[in-house]
Parts: sequence; C-alpha cells; structure tokens
Amino acid sequence: MKMPEAWHLGNGKVQTMPLVRHRPTSKRPQWILILICMVCVALIGTYVYPPRRYSACYFSASSVCNPFKDWLPPVPRVHTDEEAAAHVFIKEILSMPSIEPKNPKIAFMFLTPGSLPLEKLWEKFFQGHDGRFSIYVHASREKPVHVSPFFVGSDIRSAKVTWGKISMVDAEKRLLANALQDPDNQHFVLLSDSCVPLHNFDYVYNYLMATNVSFIDSFWDPGPHGNARYTEHMLPEIEEKDFRKGSQWFTMKRRHALIVMADNLYYTKFKLFCKPGFDSRNCYADEHYLPTLLTMVDPTGIANWSVTHVDWSEGKWHPKAYRAQDISYELLKNITSIDENFHVTSDEEKFISRKPCLWNGMKRPCYLFARKFYPEAVDNLIQLFSSYTVI
Ligand SMILES: *[C@@H]1O[C@H](CO)[C@@H](O)[C@H](O)[C@H]1NC(C)=O
Ligand SMILES: *[C@@H]1O[C@H](CO)[C@@H](O)[C@H](O)[C@H]1NC(C)=O
Ligand SMILES: *[C@@H]1O[C@H](CO)[C@@H](O)[C@H](O)[C@H]1NC(C)=O
Repeated sequence: MKMPEAWHLGNGKVQTMPLVRHRPTSKRPQWILILICMVCVALIGTYVYPPRRYSACYFSASSVCNPFKDWLPPVPRVHTDEEAAAHVFIKEILSMPSIEPKNPKIAFMFLTPGSLPLEKLWEKFFQGHDGRFSIYVHASREKPVHVSPFFVGSDIRSAKVTWGKISMVDAEKRLLANALQDPDNQHFVLLSDSCVPLHNFDYVYNYLMATNVSFIDSFWDPGPHGNARYTEHMLPEIEEKDFRKGSQWFTMKRRHALIVMADNLYYTKFKLFCKPGFDSRNCYADEHYLPTLLTMVDPTGIANWSVTHVDWSEGKWHPKAYRAQDISYELLKNITSIDENFHVTSDEEKFISRKPCLWNGMKRPCYLFARKFYPEAVDNLIQLFSSYTVI
C-alpha cells in the first residue's frame, strides 16, 4: 500500500519508505500509536498551558477564538460601495504620470488667527525667488495686516477654526483647494504664524522638489494619546491597525493634495467620530486624519516625519516656545543639525523609536522649518537669518 503523498512531505524521511512498503502491516499500528500519543500530549499541553491570546476562548465560542485563523490566508473584506468608489479615485490619482510644469512652484500655506508676526522674516526668505513660490493665508479670526508685499493679496476666504476640531482640517483643505488651482504648484507646505524657515529658499526648494515623497508625520502609538482615541464607529473602513498619529504640520506632493480633496469617505469618519469628548475620548482630527489616510492609501509615498521641528522635551501640554533672548546661532545650528527623527509612544512603556531622516535614500538633516517662535523673536531671527541659513 502506498502512503499518501502529504505524509511523505510532512515526515521528510523518504529513505524509510521502502521499509514501510515491504512490511506495511507490522509497522503501521506502531506508527499510529505514536501519532495518537503525540496528539494527546499536544492536547494536554495546550489545555494546561493555554496560549495567552486564546485563553479567553475557553469561555466563549466566538469565531474570534478560532486559533487556526492566523494560519489561514486572510479572507479579504468585501468593500462597501463608497470604499470601492474611493479606491478607484485614489488609485487613478496615484498612477497619474506627473506632468512637470515649466515653472514648478511651492505653495506656502499659512494657517493663522490673524496677522503674521514673523512676516518680515519670511519676506527675507522669499526675496529674489519670484516665480518659484506662491503664498496662501487662512486667517481664521481677523483680517491680517500685511507688512510684506509678497503677502499682499494672499488671503483666502476663511472660516472660524476651533483647536482640535474638524474645522482645523477644513481650514487645511481650504488652503489646499486654493493652492491646487495653480497648476504650477507641485509641493504644498502647511505653516503656522509661529513657524520660521531654517534654511535659505534654494535649499528648501531643492529639498522638497527633488523628492517624490510627502513629509507627513505618521506613527503607531498604542497609548492614551494614540490608539485609545480610536473608536469602532470607524469600522469597517478604518480598522484600529490603520489608525496613526502625527504632527499636523505637513508638506505634500500634488498627488496627495488631490487625494485629500477627493476623499470624502475617510474624512467623514473623522468628522463624525474623531472629536474632543466623543465616546468619552479626546480625539483630535488634525493629529490623525492625514497620517491615517495617507498611511492607508500610499504608505511608501510618505516620509513618516515632519520637516517642521518642534521641541516637546519639556514634557508640558504645549511645546517649548522661543523668546527673543533664546535666539542664538547655536540654537538654530542645533536644530538644523538633527538628522534623526524620533517618536515616543504615550503608553507606560514610552517606547522610543529613532530613525535616520532618509532623503532619496541618503541621510540628511530632518528639518526645514521650526516652531514655536514668539513675535518678539523676529528681529533677532532676521539678524541671524543670512548666517544660519547658509549650508
Ligand atoms: C519615488 O522615486 C523612486 C526612485 O527615485 C521610486 O523607486 C519610487 O517608486 C517612487 N515612489 C513613488 C511613490 O512614486
Ligand atoms: C512609513 O510607515 C509605513 C508603515 O506605517 C511603512 O509602510 C512605510 O514604508 C514608511 N515609509 C518610509 C519612507 O519609511
Ligand atoms: C546645543 O546642543 C548642545 C549639545 O546637545 C547642548 O549642550 C546645548 O545646550 C545646545 N544649545 C542650545 C542653545 O540649545
């Protein structure tokens, strides 16, 4: 009698086969006995030392408890109509050949309550680079008074912004919608009224234009400031494993800006279910929507760190803000020399991950901009600008 093929493969001892074939009757019962014994030992073992993950399953018969689930190929979930439509759009946008305009520009988009206290510094940054940038200002509280000619006429229609609420994301989308109207804009930078440039214009322009990734901060945080903000109301489209956290201050390629414009499905999930106080969670859409969306649709198209530096090392509710007396060549040199980005989880483990900032595969300094700087710092920054920005 021939043994089944699968047995051959599982056992691997092909050289014993002739023996089995010659004396099938005498060897078989012994093998069966040994097999039964092994199965018994395995069963007793799992009963006495149940694997932790499945221990709850001895008290429930739910399908979640099927221990063989992990060994079987995952069954793809059937997409909803909205998901199927969204995926078609997103796939189409991602596969579009990029048409390089004659005069590619960077769109600098300022999200501010009113006037920009550091406008004079930005003027110095933009000086001499006409035609390679465009400026958009979303002032959510009062009409700004512009002191630099570069900024005159750059205000877009704005609306009230409440910190942590979806209106923050809406303002970002409004800026993108305005900036996308100029086909020359190829890279989009979100900045606040307390942001400063760390390098000269050419450096920033080349850094952003000569790469095809968006600098969107995105990491997995299992702690109370990360995944504890996730709610199952976001199912089925957004699973907990997809939920990401990251700083609001992004730069993005045109294809990603188009995806943000086209997306209504995931946006609506965040609008409805990621807000302060919902489901006794304090979820802030501006810290989760873009990192989650872009990690889901184009994980390798984003850098996972932000090019805007901020110092949280004081461990307070707000990041460190620099006053006039803090401004020194050494401080700015320190920030511009950082070439590793790090993330720390908000759970008890406080797991720190450090990664080199890879730009087109090469290790480069991480930061092009920094925050937060008080208005009073502007004169010192202007004085230092030409010396610290030369690289
Ligand atoms: C970015 O460019 C690199 C080569 O420079 C290429 O391998 C990669 O696929 C590109 N990524 C995207 C998202 O276009
Ligand atoms: C960013 O993180 C995602 C996982 O969240 C990963 O798939 C991707 O490769 C990362 N991108 C880079 C440039 O390392
Ligand atoms: C710059 O970095 C050095 C070394 O980490 C540190 O000792 C120094 O205090 C920093 N200076 C400023 C102004 O942050």
